[in-house]
Amino acid sequence: MERTLALDCLQKVGQQATLLGWVQTIRSHGKIGFIDLRDRSGFIQIFVTGEMLQGITPESVVKITGQINKRPEKLINPNIPTGEIELSAQKVELVSPSQTSPFPLEGEGYDIGEETRLEYRYLDLRRNRLTSNIRQRHKIISFLRNWLTDDEFIEIETPILTKATPEGARDFLVPSRMHSGNFYALPQSPQQYKQLLMVAGFERYFQIARCFRDEDTRKDRQLEFTQLDMELSFVEQEDVMALNEKLLISLVEKLCPEKKIQEIPFPRISYKEAMQKYGTDRPDIRTDKKDPNLLAFCWVTDFPFFEKADSGGWTFTHNPFSAAKPEHQEWLERGENIDQILTTQYDVVLNGFEIGGGSIRNHKAEDLEKVFEIMGFSKEDISKNFGHMLKAFSFGTPPHGGIAWGLDRLVAILCHETTIREVIAFPASSTGVTAVMNAPTPAEPEQLDELGLTLKPKKSS
Ligand code: AMO
Repeated sequence: MERTLALDCLQKVGQQATLLGWVQTIRSHGKIGFIDLRDRSGFIQIFVTGEMLQGITPESVVKITGQINKRPEKLINPNIPTGEIELSAQKVELVSPSQTSPFPLEGEGYDIGEETRLEYRYLDLRRNRLTSNIRQRHKIISFLRNWLTDDEFIEIETPILTKATPEGARDFLVPSRMHSGNFYALPQSPQQYKQLLMVAGFERYFQIARCFRDEDTRKDRQLEFTQLDMELSFVEQEDVMALNEKLLISLVEKLCPEKKIQEIPFPRISYKEAMQKYGTDRPDIRTDKKDPNLLAFCWVTDFPFFEKADSGGWTFTHNPFSAAKPEHQEWLERGENIDQILTTQYDVVLNGFEIGGGSIRNHKAEDLEKVFEIMGFSKEDISKNFGHMLKAFSFGTPPHGGIAWGLDRLVAILCHETTIREVIAFPASSTGVTAVMNAPTPAEPEQLDELGLTLKPKKSS
């Protein structure tokens, strides 16, 4: 289809052009009128006659042919990129009409009810604020991919239908038709696979990975979310932290030049100090909380490895695959001073949000086994749940460690948004109902039959 983009009209003053796009606004003054025509490049003012506006409604798709002219001096709008030009229309064709939008698309849209915004998310996404958020998200992801690729990382996809990896949340289960009565779990993170990729010898892995956790949604939590996940072999805690700090700084400098990072190198705070001084393990250390361009990164380290579980036994605080700090390794091996064992876990916090976390891992099967023993797993349970990892580790495993960033959280902060829903194209609502499609929905009886499932009323919890 032959077409000129709105922004490219700047180079074609005096020429004929055909534009395709959406009618953003219509201003009718009887015999004459104006349309603002929007496409992916921006928008341009179209000068039309009254008849040309017949049947044209806002948000319709139109094809407009005409001549690109300089605007008269007094009509120049210096605030928009195409403010010095307009297209004088000779023909306006309606390609696809639009009903009246259920809510206004100009403005920020924060005051419109979430349910309606998500039902008509494809319209909400036409809003300038959301379009820019989604574009910025793309730029961030493509910057990360290029940066890591240049640093000898390779991106590897890992399965979505898999076995549970404990990350502290509930799993989403998917019933298997071929193995009736058995279930896949959706990954809470690619943790085990990325470690297996280290065993495989890739040494530097990353993935823009979708993760699934059945937990209550919040401003900074969705049932499915995206991580920048990475893992490296032959590294120590300092190496992973330094690389990630460098990457975060480059990202901000390149894509958010208006922002300033409060302190470089990022301050490091121990878990103990964070709790004592700020009462939280994700402290907001901004010196000026009103400055929208201030980014205060910090690392939080030295977390306790274990905490008391509700059952009275021990559970992990962050990640069961983490290694203990080298000075506490012996305690772990001997199962001593469990409450005092610190892990190599490092969290990266930005303006009070945990935007990432990782650790150096146990690469010796017996150390990993010990962690599960401390948590009260029997030998059989360990072998049933994690036998595949122990087996893999018996084939020459490099020392390794990694991290995962909560990309939605990072993008939200960089886009000045207070909820991650504003930077996800199709988020789920606060009650976990998906945008536009309204999942979850009931299964057909035949589907349940095929899966060998019968539903029974849920016990009230
Ligand atoms: P963790 O569980 O800390 O670590 O997750 C890493 C980061 O992911 C983000 N995050 C979320 N974002 C949106 N919605 C959620 N429900 C959600 N849950 C977590 C947070 C968090 O810091 N496998 C380890 C990483 C590793 O050790 O390498 C892991 O997943 O920003």
